[in-house]
Amino acid sequence: MSFQTEIVNWYFKNKRALPWRDTTDAYVIWLSEVILQQTRVEQGLPYFNNFLQNYPTVQDFAAATETQVLKLWQGLGYYSRGRNMLFTAKQVCELYNGQFPTSYNELIKLKGVGEYTAAAIASFSSNEARAVLDGNVFRVLARYFGIAEPINSTAGKKQFLELAQSLIEGQEASVYNQAIMEFGAMQCKPKSPACNNCPLERTCFARKHQQVASLPVKLNKLKKRTRYFNYFLCTDRENILVKKRNPGDIWQELYDFPLIETDKNYLEDQEQFSHMLKKAFGNDCKITALSQQKHLLTHQTIYVQFFGLDNYIINFNQNAEIKWVSLQEFDELPQPKVISSFVAKHLIT
Ligand code: ADE
Repeated sequence: MSFQTEIVNWYFKNKRALPWRDTTDAYVIWLSEVILQQTRVEQGLPYFNNFLQNYPTVQDFAAATETQVLKLWQGLGYYSRGRNMLFTAKQVCELYNGQFPTSYNELIKLKGVGEYTAAAIASFSSNEARAVLDGNVFRVLARYFGIAEPINSTAGKKQFLELAQSLIEGQEASVYNQAIMEFGAMQCKPKSPACNNCPLERTCFARKHQQVASLPVKLNKLKKRTRYFNYFLCTDRENILVKKRNPGDIWQELYDFPLIETDKNYLEDQEQFSHMLKKAFGNDCKITALSQQKHLLTHQTIYVQFFGLDNYIINFNQNAEIKWVSLQEFDELPQPKVISSFVAKHLIT
């Protein structure tokens, strides 16, 4: 039996029932695929259901405000996905008369839709033979065919894409693409793959040559940036001072608190920190260290320290959008996870 037939047979026996698999509606598929980028199915599923309930059609999505979309997106991370979706929904309504495109060449033009997402939507909605290449597919192909070229090198990407594309020709594209992704996610897992009950065990290159653990190869390009966020809580009895985040950094358009970023932990140079506080909040300001938290993003490690602030004069830079809101109003605004979890723990009783 061919590789593709084994994969598809395995899929029919083992697939999970996932809501976006029962539709050929390109809008619904787009919704699921953008939500699932960089996100596990279990985490993405409730967001998918929630978005679809709020915006059953692309017209409903296009009519939303950015704040509403970001609020629904809260906690999922990579917030530009949500912002791009709103842009794209509007574009689909204007340029395509609300008919979501289904061909790869049209889909790839949409904001936030890259090669993977265009191939996924095109194959699932109209059976176009475009191979998807996500982390799962790279892993299955690297292991089964013994490809040691790094998956994130230019040469590697080309080699994998050519192989993947040659494999999908002549297949039922929608089923085969779902099948190979599902096989990677459930059977050929990154750690402890289930080789013992794998239908491809006897013909798998990595299994035969003891390379399951070393394939796929990935170049380690990522140099993580470390940042220190010092947040200051200014509260009166019912209200709290919040700030809308500016473009050009993480969490754009989301709301957090007055923030001073430093290049080290405040305890490392308390004199310098105290000097900075006086400059920002006046000579008589008083701080109380509250909780701290480490927040990991793909390219950044952020050490977050919360302080209570009293006796302050606020002197923020001009373009910071800063305002007093009630806790109830704050709850309606989109916030980064570090903020919403702090509020839930410390400010809502
Ligand atoms: N991850 C990304 N797209 C997916 C899909 N269509 N099914 C399951 N997991 C996925």
